[in-house]
Amino acid sequence: MAAFSIDDVRAVVHRLFIASADASLRKEDEQKSREVAALLGRLARVRKGARLVDAAAGKASVGLVAAELLPIATLTVLERDPRRVEACRRATARLTRSLEVDVRHADVADDDAWPEAPDAVVALHACGPAADHVIDQAIRARARFVFVVPCCYGEALPFFARADAVVREQAYVADDLLRRRVRASLIDMERKLRLEVAGYATELEELVGPTVTPHNLIFLARRAGDAVRIERAAARLAVLRGTR
Ligand SMILES: C[S@@+](CC[C@H](N)C(=O)[O-])C[C@H]1O[C@@H](n2cnc3c(N)ncnc32)[C@H](O)[C@@H]1O
Repeated sequence: MAAFSIDDVRAVVHRLFIASADASLRKEDEQKSREVAALLGRLARVRKGARLVDAAAGKASVGLVAAELLPIATLTVLERDPRRVEACRRATARLTRSLEVDVRHADVADDDAWPEAPDAVVALHACGPAADHVIDQAIRARARFVFVVPCCYGEALPFFARADAVVREQAYVADDLLRRRVRASLIDMERKLRLEVAGYATELEELVGPTVTPHNLIFLARRAGDAVRIERAAARLAVLRGTR
């Protein structure tokens, strides 16, 4: 995995999002810089000239820093909050590299918002069901690589009710905190298997230490189309969903 210096990332975050030489990075910008540096190390595996989507992007710290530091050719930003879209457009104007950037005020659940067959989709802290929409849409759009860091494991998640029922069947998981953790792990297991059934080879890693963010689980997925892997994942997914 390529290493990205935190100082390089900090400098780009400062130039794009702070834009005043007198002001220093805020605490949240420092945290974001660490996360982005760790993500760029993974994103560096995509080809030169790649088409990248930053989904549930916020002001697109990941996508825009990638646009400055990686040899990508296009960046599509998807974000539904108009103020963040505006902040992203202001930051885009400060890019020094020349590439095509398309900032879309859109919901990630909307098929029409997505470009076809992007090389890579990244979603950092895609909150609640946004992480599931990003996974489904990346599959539908036939993205080659997917990098998703979910956050929030509340009732709005599509697999919440089933995961909760499975945990409650295990009477020995009697502590509330452990119940929440097991439930979150089942939700992530379903996401991983969903990607595998769609033909992706997946790995799970901790993106950064838990003191940077407790929501530090990253799904790394590469479209591989391995029939054996797909069949095995389908069998596991059916058991997890209770359909077999
Ligand atoms: C926790 S923020 C993370 C932003 C950015 N990825 C980052 O790490 O700095 C989650 C973002 O996802 C956006 N979001 C949530 N659900 C969305 C959806 N369905 N479609 C588009 N954006 C969404 C929110 O507006 C918010 O900007």
